Order: sequence, then structure tokens, then C-alpha cells
Amino acid sequence: MALHYIPIFFLLFVSSFCKSDDQLTQAKPLAHGDMLISERGDFALGFFSPTSSNKSFYLGIWYHSLPGPRTVVWVANRDNPIANPSSVMLMVTNNSRMVLSDTEGRNIWMAGSNITSGAAGAYAVLLNSGNFVLRSSDDQDIWLSFDHPTDTILPSMRFLVSYKAQVVIRIFAWKGRDDPSSGDFSFSSDPSSPGLLLATWNKTKPYCRITVWSGVTVSGGTYLTNTSTFLYETALNSGDEFYFMFTISDNSPFTRMVLEYTGKWKFLTWNNHLSSWEIIVEHPAAACELYASCGPYSYCDLTQIVPACRCLDGFEPTDGINFSKGCRRKQALKCGKQSHFMTLPGMKVPDKFLHIQNKTLDECAAECSRNCSCTAYAYANLSISGAMADPSRCLVWSGELIDIGTKTTGENLYLRLADSPVDKKRNLERIILPIMTFLLLLASIALVWMYKYRDKWRKKENQKKLKLGYFSASDQLEDENTEVPFVSFEDTLLATNCFADANLLGRGGFGKVYKGTLKGGDNVAVKRLSKGSGQGTVEFRSEVVLIAKLQHKNLVQLLGCCIHEDEKLLIYEYLPNKSLDAILFDTTRKHVLDWLTRFKIIKGIARGLLYLHQDSRLRIIHRDLKASNILLDTEMTPKISDFGMARIVGANQHQTSTNRVVGTYGYMSPEYAMGGAFSVKSDTYSFGVLLLEIVSGLKISSPQLTSNFSSLITYAWRLWEDGNATEFMDSSFAASCPLHEVLRCIHVGLLCVQDQANDRPVMSSVMFMLENESALLPAPKKPVYFAPSDWAAGEAMDNTENSLNAMSITTVEGR
Ligand SMILES: *[C@@H]1O[C@H](CO)[C@@H](O)[C@H](O)[C@H]1NC(C)=O
Ligand SMILES: *[C@@H]1O[C@H](CO)[C@@H](O)[C@H](O)[C@H]1NC(C)=O
Ligand SMILES: *[C@@H]1O[C@H](CO)[C@@H](O)[C@H](O)[C@H]1NC(C)=O
Ligand SMILES: *[C@@H]1O[C@H](CO)[C@@H](O)[C@H](O)[C@H]1NC(C)=O
Ligand SMILES: *[C@@H]1O[C@H](CO)[C@@H](O)[C@H](O)[C@H]1NC(C)=O
Ligand SMILES: *[C@@H]1O[C@H](CO)[C@@H](O)[C@H](O)[C@H]1NC(C)=O
Ligand SMILES: *[C@@H]1O[C@H](CO)[C@@H](O)[C@H](O)[C@H]1NC(C)=O
Ligand SMILES: *[C@@H]1O[C@H](CO)[C@@H](O)[C@H](O)[C@H]1NC(C)=O
Ligand SMILES: *[C@@H]1O[C@H](CO)[C@@H](O)[C@H](O)[C@H]1NC(C)=O
Repeated sequence: MALHYIPIFFLLFVSSFCKSDDQLTQAKPLAHGDMLISERGDFALGFFSPTSSNKSFYLGIWYHSLPGPRTVVWVANRDNPIANPSSVMLMVTNNSRMVLSDTEGRNIWMAGSNITSGAAGAYAVLLNSGNFVLRSSDDQDIWLSFDHPTDTILPSMRFLVSYKAQVVIRIFAWKGRDDPSSGDFSFSSDPSSPGLLLATWNKTKPYCRITVWSGVTVSGGTYLTNTSTFLYETALNSGDEFYFMFTISDNSPFTRMVLEYTGKWKFLTWNNHLSSWEIIVEHPAAACELYASCGPYSYCDLTQIVPACRCLDGFEPTDGINFSKGCRRKQALKCGKQSHFMTLPGMKVPDKFLHIQNKTLDECAAECSRNCSCTAYAYANLSISGAMADPSRCLVWSGELIDIGTKTTGENLYLRLADSPVDKKRNLERIILPIMTFLLLLASIALVWMYKYRDKWRKKENQKKLKLGYFSASDQLEDENTEVPFVSFEDTLLATNCFADANLLGRGGFGKVYKGTLKGGDNVAVKRLSKGSGQGTVEFRSEVVLIAKLQHKNLVQLLGCCIHEDEKLLIYEYLPNKSLDAILFDTTRKHVLDWLTRFKIIKGIARGLLYLHQDSRLRIIHRDLKASNILLDTEMTPKISDFGMARIVGANQHQTSTNRVVGTYGYMSPEYAMGGAFSVKSDTYSFGVLLLEIVSGLKISSPQLTSNFSSLITYAWRLWEDGNATEFMDSSFAASCPLHEVLRCIHVGLLCVQDQANDRPVMSSVMFMLENESALLPAPKKPVYFAPSDWAAGEAMDNTENSLNAMSITTVEGR
């Protein structure tokens, strides 16, 4: 990656004289026009002028091997520019100092210390890390530029945040684009809570809080650019010292953190392809992330496509839509009255906290609940050592909560809310009277209406009886609001031309699917459950009740149903582009799916699934997500279909199990296929498989893979591990696609198919990862291949059913 400007032979030649270009010795000072260049040629140190118009000169370090404008990472004399560079010289003195002075002997800048041993032969060296180090003749470090950063933090630089509860290092941004002198913006820990909070400051006022240390000593991620992938880690340690450091894997592109003159904190990486710096993370990332810009009890929601202020749960805007005035409680908190704590996950915790030492989680909660003025608390369990070490981090807030934010990687905030009023008796009096009046009114309206529409009503009643016979009263899914239009059997016969074979779209385990045309001319798909299918009844019921409650553009829409004697029919919207597998795995048609379309389909499925898991009124696990259950409309919008296997779980129920494992092998997660345990993470797994299929155009059980790889997943993993992930792409779209998007998808896919359900992301994270190019992705774990004994049978079953049809039908495999 680095351009090696210095030919190797030259280095060898020079080093044979015991002095290379990266060293400054007492015998050879550095003058204007000279440069020290680090061994591999990555960094250079010398005199520079930020602009050609302003003839102020500075001693600094910059990336030597990068094209384009100079990226300066360190400046020695930032507040003391040199007017006449030809008169200055940087020297190592014989008393362990490095001095920048002019011909009149005035010191412009000085570094070092008064170590005497080895001082006579002291020398300075510019290391490949960008660290400029003054060393004694016995190679002891006397002074490091890494201990005196200006506005940039480089990999392996140890940023000492605080020592013995004192802020140690503060870096200052440049004053302007071309002015390296210390500006108003700085980055450091907060003097009032050293080591706990890292923030950027505008003079002394907080500008943007970046992180509140939550006890994670090592965090990190994989970062993917167009041309490379690299791992980085950050570390914070405690005891007397809090420091911050990030390291990156070998052969990573150049990476740096910088506080720009604009006040923006950026984590950047060099993109060779574009010859420019690419942002990994920046703060503030949105206007609402600026300190306290959302007002009290309002948080900056960065998980949205357009980040905006929102009220915390239990709060409402104080002033209509203007969130800068903040939010207020829907129900006032009164001392002595009942209250409870609500857990808000993934939050950037508010500012103005009080740090209480030496507490367990329960003690921390008790501390907050017994104090009326306490509005929230947060807790982190630390495992640290050192004189000042405290195994806990208990933060409590009193009064208003300000500067809150959501992130995917935040922590739990426990927010105090008032319990609903318990004074039932008075409520009863207040409510009963109006209700009685209302009921009377309703009854009289109903009477009039019934009289008027008596005939129509009778007809309807007959159908209702059928329906009631079907949905047993004890059914917990039953709900008066479930309004599925009933279509008469005669109309269905008419629409499908008496279930003519010409209208047959497909067949499967549950029955056949026909294309129908309603009287109005609208096309529909009619699913006719086979009379003998033992499962039919249960699946029919759950499908009708479920889909009737679901409304989402990425879910197939149920238009009606029909029950006639032992006929059960479902009427759906008709999707002319049929199912995804019919296009994706068809070599003559797959070119229709260019990358843009595939990415749209992936995101659409993710959205539909997210809706099922989280945003609909119920938490629904689909359990049978696969390519043949994704239907495509004319605009190639994907629609999830076939809810025959779907299960509703309680909102806080995380895992359920069944002794009847249904679904399709290959798409079933290990814990479900083997143990029957299913959760939203089983759907995540199926989604991951589907995603890999869409990217590669290969079936999960592709026969052409089995010779070298046991499955599509291991194939994807191997290519990914070897850095050949691009080979995984379907060649039919490879020519014209943004590589980083594809790689990101494969990465997300691999995260979704991890063996452990806990390792798999929830769909909201998946969505976030797909939509935010800058989101950091963790490294996926190696899949351990699991092979159900009856894999071959599953595959055979799947093949026979390869849906040429618009409606697909699910295979049921009992165990
Ligand atoms: C050049 O920049 C320095 C540092 O900010 C400033 O003091 C000086 O006035 C500038 N000179 C000109 C000619 O703009
Ligand atoms: C160190 O340098 C000073 C002047 O630069 C000189 O007077 C002194 O003798 C030197 N000392 C040694 C030990 O070389
Ligand atoms: C050591 O150096 C500092 C300046 O760097 C100076 O203030 C101090 O007096 C020196 N101490 C001794 C013992 O020379
Ligand atoms: C920094 O603070 C000053 C007041 O101290 C204010 O005038 C200025 O607008 C702030 N800068 C930014 C970028 O917010
Ligand atoms: C990625 O690379 C492609 C060329 O392969 C280029 O057109 C595109 O702009 C790059 N995108 C990014 C974000 O680097
Ligand atoms: C919101 O309120 C702030 C001050 O409270 C005001 O400066 C700002 O203009 C208001 N914004 C809108 C959109 O009304
Ligand atoms: C925390 O508790 C331990 C043992 O109970 C004690 O040794 C330590 O001094 C306490 N630390 C603080 C900061 O109070
Ligand atoms: C802190 O976490 C460790 C393991 O991570 C656990 O063993 C310990 O019980 C926890 N302590 C508290 C107070 O929660
Ligand atoms: C309650 O909290 C307030 C503010 O944090 C504090 O000043 C007060 O001492 C606390 N009271 C008790 C009894 O802990």
C-alpha cells in the first residue's frame, strides 16, 4: 500500500555508514529543505508551510507516501511559527535535548529532559508509526512525540486520558484549515469526571460527548473499505491510569483519529482506490448529537435514516414539535408515590451524572430508588485492578437528563417513571357515567341499523357462523378486530374458472395455488388447501389470523378467505413476478436481477422481517423464510409470504421451543433444526442464508458446491477468510456493482448465520448495518457445519417444489 520512494539499495548503502535518513544526530542537524523519512517511507518530518500564501513555517510530521495535499499529523511549534526558515535548525544537544533555534540563538521550540546518562550520544529517530523519539546513546527513550500529540491520534499511540484522577492530555484542533495554531476546539476527558467521559470541547464548554466509559476494556471491529478490510481495537484501562489506544491489524491502510478545525472528531482510513480519506466514525454525526441540542429528556436518535430528537418513553414534547425545549413527563413523578424503572437499551448515557463508588448493580438501583431526586441510573460491572480501582461504575442522575443519544453499541439506562394512578375508585366514577351514555346511544343506533339492513345482516350471519366454527372461542389469537373479508365459494369458482388446470400456478404440501380474476378484473392468487392435509386446519387458522393483522409493503397481502364445507381457500394479491427462487436460480433469467435490484430485495426482506419481529403489534417468528417464500411485484419489491409456520411469541419471550420442527433444511438454524428451539434469531439465520443466496445466485444446497465445501455457508466463509469474498458474487452482476456494498452484504450474511443464536444480530441491527456504510461490523465467527442426517431428503423435497408458481407452498418435515 505504501509507496516506497526510497530504493532499498539506497537504504542499505546509507545504513552501512551507521546513519540512515530517519535519524537526527548531534553531528547532523536538520535545516530547511531537509527531511527525515521513516524507515518504510510512511512518514516524513521536516519544515512545512500550510499555504503558499502565508509564509509561516512549522516543524511537523506528515504522511510521506500519500499523494495529494499533505496530511500533517503533528506540529512542534504550532503556536510559535517560523518567519524565516532558512535561519533555523533542529539539533540534538549533548544534554538530552532537542532544540529548534534560529541563527541568533533564540529557541523556538525545545523538547527533552535532563537525563544525563547517555546524553552525549543522544539521537532522535522518526519511527514508522509516526512517532518521533529522542533516545539516549544507550537507547533509552527520553522524549516521544506520541506523548505530546497536537490534533491527531495515530495507531499504537497511548493517549493518557487521566492519571490519578487528573486530566493529562488535551489535544487541540487547528485554528483554521491552514492555521496549525491551537484552536478553540479540544478533545479530552472531563475534568469533573476524569477518565469516565471523553468529549470534544468548544473552549471550556462541552461540544460533543463522544463516550462515557462503560467498562469495556477492549472494543473493536472490522472495517471494510472498497479495497481492504482491517481489524482495529481500542483499549481503555484503569487503576491510576486511564488511557486510550487503538491498534490496527498488519497491512491495514493508514488510519488516524483527528480533531478537525471545524470541531469534528473523525476516525479516518485511507482509501487507496479513491486516493482520499474515508470516514469510519465521526462525532458529531448529526446536528442533534451536539451537546444538549435535544433539550432535557429528549434524545438524539442516530439509528434513524435522518437522525432527529425524540422523547424518551413516557415523555412528550414540551412544545409541539420543537425538541430543543425538550420533553416533559406524561405522568408527573411525585415523592412518596409509586414509581418504577424502565430499561432503555443502547443509550449514550446522559451528562451530569454522579459517580457512586463501590456498588453492585442492586446497590446502585437501591441508591437511586431511595432518593426522590434520582431520575435514572446506569451500571457497568468492571474488572480492573490498580490502587484507585473500583470494580463497579454506578452512575446516578438527579433532575433533568440532558444530552442523551441512542447508538447500537450504547448501554442500559434505567429511567424512573411514575406508576399509573392506582386511585381506581374515582376513575371508575369518572369513566362509568360517560360510558353508560355512550352505550345507550350505540344500542339505539344499532337497533335502527339492524332494522334497516336486516336482510343483508342475515346473510352475513351465516358466513359468520362458519367462521366461528373455525376459530374456536378459546383461541388466544382471536380478536374482534380480525376482519378478513369472506368471499363466497361461488365467486371463487368463477374467478378461477372452477379451479381449471390452466390457472394452476403451483402445487405443494398444502395444496394448489391458482391464478384468479375477480369480477372487477383484478388478478388474485388463490391458495386451495388440500382436503386431506392433516396440518391444513391449524396452518390455515394461524395464517388467516396472522396475516389479517399485518400490514406492510414487504409482506404479501391477504385479500380474503373462503370456507366452504371442507374447502379452505386463501385469496392473496397476485404478484406477476412470482417467487424469488424462480428468477434467482434460473440461469436464463437471473440477469434481470442486477445488483441494485438484489440489494433492494435484501433490504426489503429485512424490513419485512423487522416489522414481524419488532414493529407490528405482535412479535412474530416466520420460521420458514426461504427464496420460494419471497414474492416479487412488478417493481421487484420483495414480499414475504406463507405464514403457515409462523408463530406469535410474547413481546418479552425470547425463545420458544416446539417438538414439531417444521421448515426447510438449509434455512433452519442449528438450534432449531436440532433442538426445536426457535426465536427471532432463527429467522435471522434464515435471512442470512437467503442473503448469501441472493448475493451468490447459488442455492443453499447447490450440488456444484458439495465437492469442495459442505455448504454455501462454509463456501462463503472460506472465501471471506481468504480475502477472496468478491469471488462469491454472482458473476451475472459482478461487472457493475459497488464492491463495498456487496462485501458488506456478505459480511452481514455471515454474521446472521453464526452458529450461536446470541452471536446473530437482531433484524434492527441488520437493517442498520445494511443501510449505514459507516457502521462498524464485528467479525463473524467461523461456522461449524451441521449436517442433518436427512439432508438429502430435504433437498429432494425442495427440488420437486421449486416454485414455478406465484404462490409457494411450504414443505413440512416432521421429526
Ligand atoms: C500566517 O499565519 C500565522 C499563524 O496563524 C499568523 O499569525 C500570521 O498572521 C499569518 N500571516 C499572514 C500573512 O496571513
Ligand atoms: C556540550 O555542548 C556545549 C555547547 O554546545 C559545550 O560547551 C560542551 O562542552 C559540550 N559537552 C560535551 C560533554 O560535549
Ligand atoms: C530539568 O529540566 C527542566 C526543564 O525541562 C528545568 O526546569 C529543571 O530545572 C531541570 N532540572 C535540573 C535538575 O536540571
Ligand atoms: C463555540 O463557542 C462560542 C462561544 O463561546 C460560540 O460563539 C461559537 O459559535 C461556538 N462554535 C461552534 C462551532 O459552535
Ligand atoms: C468503490 O469502487 C468503485 C469502483 O470499483 C468506485 O466506483 C466507487 O466510487 C467506490 N466507492 C467507494 C465508496 O469507495
Ligand atoms: C426552537 O426553539 C428554539 C429556542 O427555544 C429556537 O431558537 C428555535 O428557532 C426553535 N425552532 C423551531 C423550528 O421552532
Ligand atoms: C471499594 O471497596 C474495597 C473493599 O470493600 C475497598 O478496599 C476500596 O478502598 C473501596 N474503594 C473505594 C474507591 O471506595
Ligand atoms: C461482574 O461480572 C462478572 C463476570 O463478567 C461476574 O462474575 C460478577 O458476578 C459480576 N459482578 C457483579 C457485581 O455484577
Ligand atoms: C439525593 O440526591 C441528591 C442529588 O444527587 C443528593 O444531593 C442527596 O444527598 C441525595 N440524598 C440522599 C438521602 O441520598
